[in-house]
Amino acid sequence: MKALQCIELGGPEKLVVNEIEDPKIQPGHIIIDVKAASVNFPDVLMIQGLYQFQPPMPFIPGGESAGIVSEVADDVQNFKVGDKVFAMSGTGAFAEKILAHEASVMLIPESMNYDSAAALSMTYGTSLYALKQRAKLKAGETLLVLGAAGGVGLAAVELGKEMGAKVIAAASTQEKVDLAKKHGADEGFVYPSGKLDKDQQKELSKTIKELTNGLGANVVYDPVGDNYAEPCLRSTAWDGRYLVIGFAAGEIPKIPLNLALLKGCKIVGVFWGAWVGLDPDGNKENFKELFEMHADGKINPEVSDAFDLDNGAEAINHLASRKAKGKVIIKI
Ligand SMILES: NC(=O)c1ccc[n+]([C@@H]2O[C@H](COP(=O)([O-])OP(=O)(O)OC[C@H]3O[C@@H](n4cnc5c(N)ncnc54)[C@H](OP(=O)(O)O)[C@@H]3O)[C@@H](O)[C@H]2O)c1
Repeated sequence: MKALQCIELGGPEKLVVNEIEDPKIQPGHIIIDVKAASVNFPDVLMIQGLYQFQPPMPFIPGGESAGIVSEVADDVQNFKVGDKVFAMSGTGAFAEKILAHEASVMLIPESMNYDSAAALSMTYGTSLYALKQRAKLKAGETLLVLGAAGGVGLAAVELGKEMGAKVIAAASTQEKVDLAKKHGADEGFVYPSGKLDKDQQKELSKTIKELTNGLGANVVYDPVGDNYAEPCLRSTAWDGRYLVIGFAAGEIPKIPLNLALLKGCKIVGVFWGAWVGLDPDGNKENFKELFEMHADGKINPEVSDAFDLDNGAEAINHLASRKAKGKVIIKI
């Protein structure tokens, strides 16, 4: 089969497309003929050796895919050849075939095509868990989303709106803010795209306060981190929840803890992948909700760019260089 392989850690330019052996079936697993796979920021980190876990070299990047089951291990009861499925495998998705553990696979509902199925799981799975289980977002509260036109950001905008919040979208260009508004954000503003200086940080806090009638945001959804984090934490409302989603802007911020004391707010960690392992039933319940929302047209994964497998490295580069709006997928 054809696969995009990481044979040396580094940027997307180090990735190579190789012809390698098809995967062999293993107990508890199925093999999927991949139709679409989507790019997520963890792929960018993993090929550089910067993610929370590191697969042995060489490896095939790609955390999520959708396709048709072509082989099933004897001990697997819940899937059969020909089923349309998506897999949250962590790695291995940027290839013509993937060996996936049955626990990481779900049937694609009727309402969804392969592209949407490949684009939905990590972003909407993360954002629903973040807003529902971690922030306990309530109708009528204000939700500020940073990186609001990125993968997890745009999912948070749609889900926040669906949960009855007033959603404020923040992003680095007007085009990105407009996309978030198209997906339901009530308000939006553009923040600077480089490293923020002290004045820009103050300006960011001021803008958030102005858009929340001086009260601050009840929930901040932050996949950007770096020095965007502190001014946003400074702009939370009393009893606010600041969600630590990721650090796409680079640095892991160090926060003065007196801010949490003064604002009576919570700094809440979100690690969706770990929660899926700890509470698989809770995750299934969340996905049932996501499928219903999709069937009712309430959520709609935005696929902005599609690449073929030969140009898979370019797909990852597109996301890494901040050009992606919504999801970037690789069609196979
Ligand atoms: N906690 C979890 O369970 C979990 C799960 C999935 C992903 N994540 C994390 O969430 C973050 C976003 O993932 P994603 O897949 O949604 O990525 P994405 O689609 O690339 O979105 C990230 C957004 O971050 C912003 N950004 C700011 N500085 C950036 C920079 N220097 N380079 C690239 N983007 C920058 C961009 O928006 P602007 O240009 O508008 O600033 C971009 O749209 C990542 O850190 C990822 O590791 C966490």
